[in-house]
Amino acid sequence: MNAGILGIGSYVPEKILSNSDLEQMMDTSDEWIVSRTGIKERRIASDEQDTSHLAYEAAVEALKDANVLAEELDLILVATVTPDMSFPSVACVIQERLGAKNAAAMDISAACAGFIYGVVTATQFVNTGTYKRILVIGAEKLTKIVNWEDRNTAVLFGDGAGAAIIGPVSEGRGILSYELGADGTGGKHLYKGGDHLVMNGREVFKFAVRQMGDSCENVLKLAGLTKEEVDFLIPHQANTRIMDAARERLQLPKEKMSVIIDRHGNTSSSSIPIALVEEYKKGNIKEDDLLVLVGFGGGLTWGAITLRFGR
Ligand code: UT7
Repeated sequence: MNAGILGIGSYVPEKILSNSDLEQMMDTSDEWIVSRTGIKERRIASDEQDTSHLAYEAAVEALKDANVLAEELDLILVATVTPDMSFPSVACVIQERLGAKNAAAMDISAACAGFIYGVVTATQFVNTGTYKRILVIGAEKLTKIVNWEDRNTAVLFGDGAGAAIIGPVSEGRGILSYELGADGTGGKHLYKGGDHLVMNGREVFKFAVRQMGDSCENVLKLAGLTKEEVDFLIPHQANTRIMDAARERLQLPKEKMSVIIDRHGNTSSSSIPIALVEEYKKGNIKEDDLLVLVGFGGGLTWGAITLRFGR
């Protein structure tokens, strides 16, 4: 069996928080935010919408796209650092709401690399023939842990969810290689302390630039592929300067990398699947394209996959 993507879906809340809105709330400027991060606006969930609500909407779209029924799901994995509550997991909440009564369910905590961790975990079950239909979701309501008094972090994050159904695909397609990694010694640079997210931006920046480039090169090598063969790069959307560094390591032109951070900010585990959906809908990704998905996050964690798109 070779695991691949059977369908994708995403959801972001309606409410937009622009940089000029933030200028009214704290000592910052649109110029600073755009030039340092590439972010212009982000989506903010309402008080009534928790992470599971965002996750559910993305899941419904992914199931429809894959033409898979909820009862056919074998496993639900939700990557999130902002669950509705510590338990039951968001995955169990989704299992109940979808009526996915045959699915096991659990959350994965790997911060912004969470979606990649989820896809790689799902891949193991599919490749061994254990499961055939796995729902992987990245979902975050980061604005509930943002410290609105801290301009260093408050301007960066947004809310949203993205999902994929992982299952067996035809030969030559699907996940060709992957890498997961962690360095707990760097945990102190990005964590939730008390009720809020705390970050040493410069340290995370240095780590991210190095790791994103290394991981892209590693997964290409593992798959026996070259940089020239890459059709599209989907990096975790944390900062355009970090993303450009990864793109330059792969020697890709600007139009071959997904940039959605301008409209969504950093949505942590959701950013990669939301970007995948948006690029697919825009027609920038076609069947048989070679994609590289790469992320990094608090933990510290990282992960990358090469993927031949299509069923
Ligand atoms: O998903 C993973 C999560 N995190 C990341 O990927 C973040 C990685 N790090 C970054 O993206 C960047 O480090 C930041 C965007 C967070 C910051 O950019 P930077 O170029 O590293 O800026 P800096 O931290 O060196 O700060 C430069 C200046 C400081 O002023 P002084 O000390 O030089 O006077 C900050 O106080 O910018 C100031 N500053 C701001 N000014 C206006 C920090 N935040 C703001 C702000 N508005 N929002």
